Parts: sequence; structure tokens; C-alpha cells
Amino acid sequence: MKFDTPAGTNPIDQEKVVAQPHARIEGPLKVTGQATYAAEYREPRNAAHGYVLGSGIARGKIKHIDVSRAEAAPGVLLVLTHHKTPWTNLESPVPQQYEHSPHLVNEEVNYYGEAVAFVVAETFEQARHAAHLIEIEYDTIDADFVLADVMNEGKAPPGNPDSVVGDFDGAFRDAPVKVDVTYTTPDQSQSPMEPHASIAEWQGEQLTLYTSNQMVHWVRRGLSKTFHMAQQDIRIVSRYVGGGFGSKLNFYADAVLSALAAKELGRPVKTVLQRPLIYNHTTHRPATIQRVRLAADREGHLLAVGHDTFTGDLPGGDGENASDQTKLLYAGPNRLIRTRLSELHLPPGGSMRAPGEAVGLLALECAMDELAEQLHLDPLELRIRNDIQHDPEKGPKRPYSSRKLVKALREGAERFGWSTRHPTPGQVREGEWLIGLGVASAFRKNLVQPSGAKVRLEKGGKLTVETQMTDIGTGSYTILGQVAAEMLGLRLEDVTVKLGDSDFPKASGSGGSFGANSSTTGLYYACEELRKIISEAFGYDPNTTEFKNGEVWSGNHCTLLAKASSKGAIEAEGNVTWGELTEKFVQASFGAHFAEVGVNAYTGETRIRRLLSVASAGRILNPVTARSQCLGGMTMGVGAALMEELHVDDRYGLFINHDLAEYHVPVHADIPALDVLFLDELDDKSSPLKAKGVGELGICGVGAAVANAMYNASGVRIRDYPLTLDKVL
Ligand code: MOS
Repeated sequence: MKFDTPAGTNPIDQEKVVAQPHARIEGPLKVTGQATYAAEYREPRNAAHGYVLGSGIARGKIKHIDVSRAEAAPGVLLVLTHHKTPWTNLESPVPQQYEHSPHLVNEEVNYYGEAVAFVVAETFEQARHAAHLIEIEYDTIDADFVLADVMNEGKAPPGNPDSVVGDFDGAFRDAPVKVDVTYTTPDQSQSPMEPHASIAEWQGEQLTLYTSNQMVHWVRRGLSKTFHMAQQDIRIVSRYVGGGFGSKLNFYADAVLSALAAKELGRPVKTVLQRPLIYNHTTHRPATIQRVRLAADREGHLLAVGHDTFTGDLPGGDGENASDQTKLLYAGPNRLIRTRLSELHLPPGGSMRAPGEAVGLLALECAMDELAEQLHLDPLELRIRNDIQHDPEKGPKRPYSSRKLVKALREGAERFGWSTRHPTPGQVREGEWLIGLGVASAFRKNLVQPSGAKVRLEKGGKLTVETQMTDIGTGSYTILGQVAAEMLGLRLEDVTVKLGDSDFPKASGSGGSFGANSSTTGLYYACEELRKIISEAFGYDPNTTEFKNGEVWSGNHCTLLAKASSKGAIEAEGNVTWGELTEKFVQASFGAHFAEVGVNAYTGETRIRRLLSVASAGRILNPVTARSQCLGGMTMGVGAALMEELHVDDRYGLFINHDLAEYHVPVHADIPALDVLFLDELDDKSSPLKAKGVGELGICGVGAAVANAMYNASGVRIRDYPLTLDKVL
């Protein structure tokens, strides 16, 4: 189905099950250890253990590799190097989402932590031991690891041309009030708790890969290209994912080399990436240098909006497009928004929760705060004054499908007690703590993806949902169950949801905040189809039939739903491909973040005291799981503001703090009780669910609210993230 017109009567609008606060249906499996994460599947019997040896240099060539001691070590079954692998070409050293993505290609090394050998042994310990007996001599070549050194060589990334509207330079020059500020954000790691892991098993020419991945159909297609196999000969299973945050959009050496070795050995191979390789072999969020120039008239109407992002990546990578939200967020007739991508030889860049906005707003929303100060204007008011209900580049012809930024700011201000903020920094003190409040807008574009699902009414009247959609901890199992229950007039407990298996209909997967809205829409159409089949079987008019309480009603005729499958299960499939509404309207989720922090006057330490996020993201399909997404996003936003930073060892080009002890993310002691407020919103141009993305909205802007609160508390403006105590003092 193409979604291009708002549905007439829509069973979802009843909100009997959808939009209700159901606890996650797979929760008991998770807390009792029965949910199978990638390394835990028992089906592949007798799996041998793989161990990926990462490169010890960033760029160069393997001159000599000696695996003889490794091959002779106890328990070793196989050692793979580039001498022994079947492929010949490498299109890009960056793991590509659904492209040819081999490992151990040739003697070239492109980044520290790239796979240079793969050892398979009877046990993990034996494989690890043997891997360290491999002797390698490298020839190194000069490499660049520091963005500031190469930023001026950057080029516009393909597919992201400069955005030029009006006369930015003239308007900026002549404006009475302006800021020209440069913010920097470091390399960051998604740092999922569950490591990337795969178990590969072959049956003849058919591969089954149990793995931890957000995008079942991307891995399947990528492996089919890598191994030159038909997609139908590859089955991907990814039922539970212990955190992805973008790093599991792609697949890595654990998947590819396990499959290769399992074929060679005729035996399943299981590989779990060791923690340091999660930081140096998989993707990370690339660093940025962002120059933001904003100019306004004396009333605070923006006249010129400029945002230049400098970023870097390996050849073939995208870097971090941190300027993009600035194209859409605020009004202003003269605009210049650009990204410059340079070549860097760090481990591969990739998506991390809200790629673009998450760090773009760290600059833009602080620059707005700085401009408000120049204007002697409340920063909340500055944002409200520059609200716009259409695409600021394309004009009123391209309106927002819905946009409640102002409402989010106003309602948040009321709830948070914004009026108590002292406009002059450094004025509120409790003992040794300086207290401040900050605000930022939240913005994340609403992406959609094609998505399909199958529904089956089982004998007995229970319903089964099957789709390739994944649940990365977000609540997909639950919201899909809710949508199916609502559509068929059942209770949530009457629905079984099966996810993360390429045997099921192809689905959106989880990424870019598109998962919930896209996958439930595919399911919606599958349920519509099933409703039609059942209505017709009962001799009812499908357009007026109602499904409620396990019964099917047409006027005053009523039949038990279970009767439809009394002779055997009946099933239906549906999918969504989206239509012109996604072109005609700009779609985004909006919100506002409020932060209260204390900055210690002696140590410079910052403590979060309160956070409030207001989210306007269409229908909230489940307020429990959606709130949980916001809490996670807010926590990650605090991490981005105060702690998170991959430290580059610029001698060798690796991230030196490559574990969860040294890569600091917030812990419970860092996070007080957080508050989330959802605005009532139904976006009937977004989907039949009238929902929009919410999974990443929570991180978008929260770090800037924290930074602005720190400035309000202390009078110290830091433009180099993370805002650690040494920079405050
Ligand atoms: Mo998201 S960073 O697209 O998982």
C-alpha cells in the first residue's frame, strides 16, 4: 500500500490498546535470561569459537604475516588471513550498510582495528591465545587522525550539496546583532552493552547467521553481495539486540568471517567481538568542528543563518552531517549551510543515535543562547520568534505536516518553572554550587522506510504477527502487538509477535527513528487485509465491519472472530511503500529540553539537578516504551554534554579509551529523576498510525540545554565538548 491520503475510519483511533501504557511483552523473557541474544542461540550445535585480530597500525601494508605458531597452538582449527580468502576487491574500507563488505581483502590496512587475521579454535580462550602468537610486520604510510589538521581540505559530501538562500554574507555583515562561534564535538562511541556477535551455520549451500543487528534485510543483502550468493540462501536471525544506537546498522568481521570459516570447517562458528574492537573495528560517530553564524534584527528576528560543519572519515564514508537540521529549524531569509568532509584514517565513521542532529544541535542551540544574550532577550522567546510552519528554504509550498515547537517550549517552560531563571549568569548560589537553567529546542526529521508484515489468525482465535522488524530495546515487540490487537479487536495478550528473522516479510528495521512508525504501518495494512478476508468470509461489508472484544460486528450481526479460523489458520500480508505526502510535507518531530544544573564553584564539576523533555511526535504508540526512549536519549545527551569522548592516540590512530571503564557514559549517580511530557498530537500526514519518530528526539538538543544551563550557572561558556571540569575552571 502506498500511504498518501489520510484514512477514513481508522480502528487505531479507538486507542483501546494502542497509546495505552503496556509494559513490554518480552520483558519477562529478558529478566529471566530466556531472551536469546546473538551469542546465546543454542540451535547451532558444537560451534567453534572465532577471534578477530585487529590491525596494530592505522594505515599501511602487511609486509609479512606468520601464522605458523598460531596454527600449531592447542585447539586451533583454522587461521584465516588475506592469503586465504576468496575475494579480490574492496570498494570502501568503511562498513557499508548493504553493500559488498568483505574483510581480510589484501595486504592493505585502512584503519587500526581492521581485521588482519581470524583464528578459529575449540574454545574462545584457545582462539584468543593463538591470535596473539601471530607475528606481523607492517609498512606504515602517513596518516591523518586529527580533524583540525585536515579540515581545510574538506569537500562537500556527495549527496549533501551546500544550501544557499538569499545573500548570507551581505545580511550577516549588515545585521545589528550577531554571533560567530565555533563549537567542537569529539568522536563518540555508541558503546552498546551487548557486543557485536554472530554465529554462522551452513546447511549445504545455505547460510544461517544469528547476529545482533538492527537491519535484517541490510545484512542479508550485504552478505549476499559479499559472498555472491542469492539472498534466499541466507537467513538472518536477530531476535533481541542489546543496544545498537546505530553501530548495529552495519555488519562487521564477526559476521563475515564466521560465515567464511564455518563454510570452510563444515561446522558452526561463533564470534563475539572483544570490547576494544567494538570501539576500534565497528563504527563510531565522527568528530565535528562547527562554525555557526547567526544574525538578527534588534527584535530577535533571524536575518542570516549560517552553519558550517567540518568532519572527517575514511574514503567512502560520510562523516557527520551536523549542519542539516539548521536547514529546517528556524526562519531567516538568508542562509548558508554547508558540510565539508575530509579524509581521516581513524576507524570507520557511521551512524550514532540521531546522526546529524544530536551533535548539530549541540552547536546551533548554544549559538541561539549566545545570540539571545546579545539581544538581551529570553532564549525561549528568541526561539519562539523564529518559529516557522514551512520549510524555510523551499517556502510555504512545503509546509510542515505538523510542528508544535512553540507549544513544546511554552508548556515545558510552565512545567519546569522557567520564569524563575535569573537572566544574568552566576547569580544563583547554594553553598558551593552555582545553579543555572538552560533550554534548547528538540528537532529530529521524521524518516520513513518501506515495511511489511504478516498476520495469522490461528485456530482458536489468537493472532500471530511476523515481520523482519527488530527490537533493539525500544519496544517494537510491544507496539506491534498493540497495533495488531487494536486492528483485530483483541487483547494484547491474544497476540504473539515474532521479529528479527529474514524468513518473515521484509521490514523497515530499527534506525533513524523510522522503525516504530514504518513497521506498524506495514502491519496496519496486513491487518486491514486480514479484516477484509474475514469480513468477506462472514458475508459482511468490509467497509463497515467492526472488530471488537474478540467479535466481528456488521450492523447487529455478530460472529466470534475465532470462527474465521475454526477450520485452520488464515493469514494476510501487507506492506507500505509511502507516497507523495512524504514529499509534499516536511516531516519532523519537535520538542523542548529544559535543564537545571549545579556547577561547583571550587571544582568545576557539573551535576544535573533536573531535566525535562517535552516531545511532540505524533501519536505516542505506547507511553511507557516511548518515555523509556526519551529517558535513554536524555541520558545519552547528558553523556554528550559532560563526558563522552573517544580519545585519539595520534601516534597510532586508535581510540585509546576502548572500553566501558574508560569511555565515560552517565551512570545512575549522574542522572536524577527525569521528567518527560508528551504533547497530544495526531499527524495524519505521517502514517495511518498518525505517529512520528521519537526514539532519537530525546537526545536531540538536550546536551545544549545542559551547556546553556552551565553558562547560566557559572558565566563560563565552553564550546569544546564534552564540557569537563578542567575546561570550566
Ligand atoms: Mo540510528 S543512529 O539510525 O540506529
